[in-house]
Amino acid sequence: MNRTRCDHTPAWGQLQAAFEAHGRTFDVRGAFACDPARFDAFSQSAPHVFADLSKNRIDAAAEQLLLALAQQTGMPAHRDAMFAGQAINTTERRQVMHWLLRNPPLAQIQQPRQALQNVASELAAVHATLDAMLAYAEQVRADECITDVVNIGIGGSDLGPQMAVLALDEFVLPGKRFHFVSNVDGHELAAVLRKLKPQSTLFLIASKTFTTIETMTNAQSAKAWFEAQGGTDVARHFAALTTNVAAAQAFGISTTFGFWDWVGGRYSVWSAIGLPLAIAIGAQGFRDFLAGAHDMDEHFRSAPLARNLPVRLGLLDVWYRNFHGFTSRSVAPYHSALKRYPAYLQQLEMESNGKRVDAQGAALPFATAPVVWGEPGTNGQHAYFQMLHQGTDVVPVEFVAVKTPKHTLQGHHTLLLANAVAQAQALMLGKADDGGHKHFTGNRPSTFLLLDELSPTSLGALIALQEHRVFVSGSLWGINSFDQWGVELGKVLAKDIEARMGSGNAAGLDSSTAGLLGRLRV
Ligand code: F6P
Repeated sequence: MNRTRCDHTPAWGQLQAAFEAHGRTFDVRGAFACDPARFDAFSQSAPHVFADLSKNRIDAAAEQLLLALAQQTGMPAHRDAMFAGQAINTTERRQVMHWLLRNPPLAQIQQPRQALQNVASELAAVHATLDAMLAYAEQVRADECITDVVNIGIGGSDLGPQMAVLALDEFVLPGKRFHFVSNVDGHELAAVLRKLKPQSTLFLIASKTFTTIETMTNAQSAKAWFEAQGGTDVARHFAALTTNVAAAQAFGISTTFGFWDWVGGRYSVWSAIGLPLAIAIGAQGFRDFLAGAHDMDEHFRSAPLARNLPVRLGLLDVWYRNFHGFTSRSVAPYHSALKRYPAYLQQLEMESNGKRVDAQGAALPFATAPVVWGEPGTNGQHAYFQMLHQGTDVVPVEFVAVKTPKHTLQGHHTLLLANAVAQAQALMLGKADDGGHKHFTGNRPSTFLLLDELSPTSLGALIALQEHRVFVSGSLWGINSFDQWGVELGKVLAKDIEARMGSGNAAGLDSSTAGLLGRLRV
């Protein structure tokens, strides 16, 4: 398919001119003063999510040019190619079909689009696996002897299920504890194992490839611990979630749930990798999670670009990164259960779009992924918000708030929401004070995402929204958002250093690496 890199379009130059003419000096406060309808123009509903973009440094003219940029790069056709099952992960020659994992079965769709019929066999396999996995989840839920579920996985095989299990804590079955072991640091596994008994533990070994060294090391140690503690029934106490079922079986695990190479690791929470979540919230809860994401898929696939929330967010990301030159985006979920949401988004954005070459391998003359970071509010306010308000860098902030809490401490919730709204207001308004220590420049941009409640459905929609906004910016930048070659070099060198830790051979190493090696060897 034809993609045109953003800097090769007429709109790119027009955006540069618009930025120099109005963008650089744009003041959100002035924009509100001139336009009483600004909130309406720059806010919108999408499935299960309301978004206020009006406190951003953008006006209708810039947004129009960004929409033209999206058209001229061929982003809509690129999106349609993804939803048609084309192999848009070109460097790995793979389809990109995490969206298919949340698609209802063909039989439930009145007039399925042709592109969906073309992937009918994949969709049937998705539902066969989903049904089996959810039946297993229900079986585990009903099994009162299993009190502890331990997910062993890293990256996408950890962050998605961990983030979602924590986020949906209010929906988790009482009587079961969930643990997530990702780091090869033995402190993490040892601390979890200390709390467990083999007869009441289920280990889920989650790895797309079933070769990741951290996960394999933790899995080996968990199995050794299980056997040393007298555990016998590996088939009952271990299950594998992987595309590499043969490797899982060779490891000695017979209970396996598979998925496919067209599901990227960081996009895999919707697949068998979501099993911890399915055990935690039940089969219906997991189906609701998928349904919320599917609603967002349909919105992204069919809403006009100007009212398409993932498109608008992705365009704003490009405007900020490439024209304003903002290097990061801070994520502020005002809900303590969303504590791993920033870490989840970090992998999603930075592993997808942290690329310096385009899809053809040509070096890019512009910046790509921003640094994504954050903490739940109000905690962040007492840590780094100082810098957001008065630091020398402008950092766009993306708030998430939930209207209705699950607890009855209404006073707390009112205070929490008031803080979220007030922070967005303070960032924008600032405060004059003779330009000294108490001066706030204001005009600091933010986006506000609002959910009615934090539920499996709304969480699914929120995460799919984030996946698609990353798609949009990556598409405009002309990169392949679906590979991650940048993680390979460290893996290879770690193997070499591991061998040298044993042998002490420092031949050919730089003096720093050799010096550290010498100090670390016992
Ligand atoms: O860190 C690289 C990476 O490949 C991620 O993309 C992936 O989510 C993670 O490792 C884990 O991979 P796997 O699921 O194959 O163990």
